[in-house]
Amino acid sequence: MAKTLSDKLVALCAKRGVIFPSAEIYGGVAGFYDYGPVGVTLKNRIREFWRSEFIIKMENIYEIESAIILPRIVWEASGHVESFTDVLVECKKCHTRFRADHLIQDTLEIVTDGKTIEELAEIIETNNIRCPNCKGELTSASKFNLMFKTFIGATEKSENEAYLRPETAQAIFLDFRRIQQAMRASLPFGIAQIGRSYRNEISPRNFLFRLREFEHMEIEFFVHPAQKDAVPEDLWEKVKDLEVSILSIPLQEKEAPAERYKATDLFKQGIFSCKWLLYWTLISYDWLVRVGIDPTRMRIRQHMLNERAHYAADCWDIEFKYSFGWKELQGIADRTDYDLKRHAKYSGKNLNIHLTDENVKIVPHVIEPSSGLERIIQALLESTYIEEPERALFKFNPYIAPFQIAVFPLLRRDNLISIARNICDILRGENFLILYDEKGSIGRRYRRVDEIGVPFAITIDHQTLEDNTVTIRARDSMQQERYAIQELIDFFKTHLKFT
Ligand code: GLY
Repeated sequence: MAKTLSDKLVALCAKRGVIFPSAEIYGGVAGFYDYGPVGVTLKNRIREFWRSEFIIKMENIYEIESAIILPRIVWEASGHVESFTDVLVECKKCHTRFRADHLIQDTLEIVTDGKTIEELAEIIETNNIRCPNCKGELTSASKFNLMFKTFIGATEKSENEAYLRPETAQAIFLDFRRIQQAMRASLPFGIAQIGRSYRNEISPRNFLFRLREFEHMEIEFFVHPAQKDAVPEDLWEKVKDLEVSILSIPLQEKEAPAERYKATDLFKQGIFSCKWLLYWTLISYDWLVRVGIDPTRMRIRQHMLNERAHYAADCWDIEFKYSFGWKELQGIADRTDYDLKRHAKYSGKNLNIHLTDENVKIVPHVIEPSSGLERIIQALLESTYIEEPERALFKFNPYIAPFQIAVFPLLRRDNLISIARNICDILRGENFLILYDEKGSIGRRYRRVDEIGVPFAITIDHQTLEDNTVTIRARDSMQQERYAIQELIDFFKTHLKFT
C-alpha cells in the first residue's frame, strides 16, 4: 500500500531523531512523543518566534509560568470537572474503549461535531455499529472526563484530589489579580503562558495532532466589557489589509464552502462577536503564515452553537487542511467574564478591576487566542515537506529552521577540518545554529541536512586553502556560490534574519 504523507513524516521524523514515540524501546505509548535534538530546536524556534511577536514586541502582554498540578476546586470552578468530557463506548467482548464520535466518523464517514451523547448513541444503535476489532457489541455511551487525576501528598483522600492542567489558561485567571496589580496593568492587557498541558484522550491519533501531553501557547486578553470593539488604530493597521477564507455559521448551515473576506468587511458586517476577537484571529493567522504554514490550506471556521466550549460566547478555529482533513490549528474564543466570575464565586475573592476614571468596578471580558505547539509543528511539516526525484526536504523558513547552517569539510583532511571548525566557532559566536559533519560523501551529507530543512551549507574545499573562500549551498535551489570567509557573518545576518 502506498505510504500516506503522515506515514512518511512519522518515518522521517523518527529516522532523523526529530520526534519519535516516548518509551519507544517498550513499544511506545499512544499520545506521547519525545523530541530529539532537531525536534527540540525546531520547537524552540517556533516558541521563541511566538514569544517574540506576542510578548516581547507587545507592550501590554505579561508572561507567567504556573504550576501544572492544581487542586480539584480550580477545575470545579472552571467547569472542567463537569464539562471537559468526551463520549465513550466500550466493547463488551474485548473491552477496548472508543471515542464514540471518532468511531462513527471512521465507520460511516460522516461529520459528528457538536452531537450530544444521546445523538451519538442513537447513530451507533441505528447503524448497528460494532467493535471494529472483534465485532463485539458495544456498551451504551457514557461521558469520560479527559483530565488526568492525581493526589497531592501521601494520602489518597478526596480532599487531596488534583488534576494535571488540560489548558494553561486557568492559572492565568487564578493569577489575574496579582499580575494586574504587580504590573500596574490597565485594560486592555493580556497575560500569556507557554507550557505543557495534559489530556487523557480516548483515542490519540494523527501523529502530533491529538496528543495526551502537549504544549500550549495561550493569551488571555482582558478587555473592558463595553469596549470590545475598541482596537487601537496602530494594531488594526497591522491586520486590516489581510484577506482570509471564512466559514461562518450561516455558510456551514447552507453546507457552502468558505468565502474570501477582507478584514475590514469582516468587521463592518459584524461577523465576529467583537473587533478584539477579530483582531486576535487575524494577527494569529498572520503569524502562522509567517511561520511558514501554507495559507492556501488555511481557513477560519466559526464554531456552531452546539460545539462551543462551555465558556465561549463566540469561538473561531483557524483550520488547516492536514493530510487527514480540515482540523483545528488554533482556537480563538470570546470567553466573556465566565472564568473570572466563576473563580471569584468559588474562591470568595474579588476578581474585578476598579476603574478610577469611571469610579466603577467591572469584571473584564476575555479574548483567548490558544494554540498547541505540536499542531503548529504538524501543519508546518506538512506545509514544507517536498519530494523531488533526488531528495526529500523541508522548506522551512530560514529563521524557523532547526539548524541554520551546516558546515562540511569536503574531505576528512586535517587542514580542511581545522578551517571548518574555525568557521563553526566564528558562526556559533554570532549565535547561529550550526551542524558540523565531516563523515561520508558530500552528496549524502547535503541530502541529510536537506531532510531536516537546514537552509544553507558551507563547504570548505581545496580552493579555500588558496584564497580563503568557501562555497555556500542554498537548500532550495541547490546552487552554490563562493564567498570569502570574512563575508560569512554578514551574509548569514542578512539571510537568516529573525523577522
Ligand atoms: N484554552 C483553550 C483550550 O484549551 O482549548
